Amino acid sequence: MQGCSRRSWQQFLQSSPALSASLKSVHPLPAVYETHDVRYSSDIAVKGVGHLVRKGTGGRSSVSGIVATVFGATGFLGRYVVQQLAKMGSQVLVPFRGSEDSHRHLKLMGDLGQIVPMKYNPRDEDSIKAVMAKANVVLNLIGRDHETRNFSFEEVNHAMAEQLAVIAKEHGGIMRFIQVSCLGASSTSPSKMWRAKAAAEEAILRELPEATIMKPGVMIGTEDRILNKWAHFGKKWSFLPLIGDGSTKIQPVYVVDVAAAIIAALKDDGSSMGKVYELGGPDVFTVHELADLMFDTIREWPRYVKVPFPIAKALASPREFLLNKVPFPLPTPNIFNLDEINSLTVDTVVSENALKFADLGVVPHKLKGYPIEFLTSYRKGGPAFGSTISEKLRSSEF
Ligand SMILES: NC(=O)c1ccc[n+]([C@@H]2O[C@H](COP(=O)([O-])OP(=O)(O)OC[C@H]3O[C@@H](n4cnc5c(N)ncnc54)[C@H](OP(=O)(O)O)[C@@H]3O)[C@@H](O)[C@H]2O)c1
Repeated sequence: MQGCSRRSWQQFLQSSPALSASLKSVHPLPAVYETHDVRYSSDIAVKGVGHLVRKGTGGRSSVSGIVATVFGATGFLGRYVVQQLAKMGSQVLVPFRGSEDSHRHLKLMGDLGQIVPMKYNPRDEDSIKAVMAKANVVLNLIGRDHETRNFSFEEVNHAMAEQLAVIAKEHGGIMRFIQVSCLGASSTSPSKMWRAKAAAEEAILRELPEATIMKPGVMIGTEDRILNKWAHFGKKWSFLPLIGDGSTKIQPVYVVDVAAAIIAALKDDGSSMGKVYELGGPDVFTVHELADLMFDTIREWPRYVKVPFPIAKALASPREFLLNKVPFPLPTPNIFNLDEINSLTVDTVVSENALKFADLGVVPHKLKGYPIEFLTSYRKGGPAFGSTISEKLRSSEF
């Protein structure tokens, strides 16, 4: 057997399981042949905590060794993260607080028993400990862009994240903790939510200096809350309010790329630990340009009503003012979301010296093309009305 490569030795054994079993019983394999193939897709960084049990070739029926508790898995980004985790053979624990339907779509992403929904209460420490007990990875995707009577920005975007970090630290076996923040998060931001996110980043890195922070720009995808919202409004009212004059710069990013960046960080050799990544798409858009792209895709004439910031804020303020004063829940803010309007008063683009997608080996998609094709369902003549954007563009433009 001398001179036989590791791969051919493995292929030989795979081709004859019976022979392999009897050979192993008389002559145990050298350790090097017992280790897994380099193609194996899980390479979670191990810092002082045992080694991972891995099996298979890296597909969804393998065992990657990752047991991830994904807080916020029931949301928009959550489904893409769970899908990519499951695809490489990880077990995913899905804490949910709502109805049994909130995680139904996630179950199909893995083999039987691979996606494990667990009811929890985000205000009950013991229930958080229970959903984290068996995990070696924690991802926090919890966030909300508006306040409700029950939950303030501070509680959802900061206090909960900090609590997860404290519990993960106590746990002792959490090898990787990834927090999803926002590109604009800063202690000086005009947005309350982004200030809360910045406070969460600081608290998490204080508790767990080896945590990784991902700061995506506004995320685009089938279930997004920007292009869908605009398209819906534009179809219903035949115009779109443009907050300010639409000249604020943003750097939207395809949601699947953000999920890919999270997985890339999990699979690296630990080099992303303790780092902050700013995840913006390949192009910077003004709000106006992005809205034009939306109108172009849904094939409606772009009609805008420019709403200066003071007027937009005045229109959005009553909800915030009444929120905790009336004895009933108020509707979710739509276009006139005070905090979102505040966030639009400054440009939100990836800073020059920040770590980016490239540092994780991910090439983000251009938005024009497949990432926004879901908008074709808003076309008056139906999705098949005319050619799709990607058909109009040359493939080199993707
Ligand atoms: N969407 C964007 O454009 C964007 C851009 C940049 C950063 N981010 C950040 O990325 C993360 C994921 O965003 P997303 O768009 O996927 O958010 P999402 O669709 O709104 O989902 C948020 C998740 O957080 C959970 N959550 C919200 N409030 C909670 C509460 N009070 N207690 C417990 N869980 C709560 C939700 O659970 P339920 O299903 O039970 O409500 C849901 O699973 C968030 O941190 C967000 O701030 C988003």
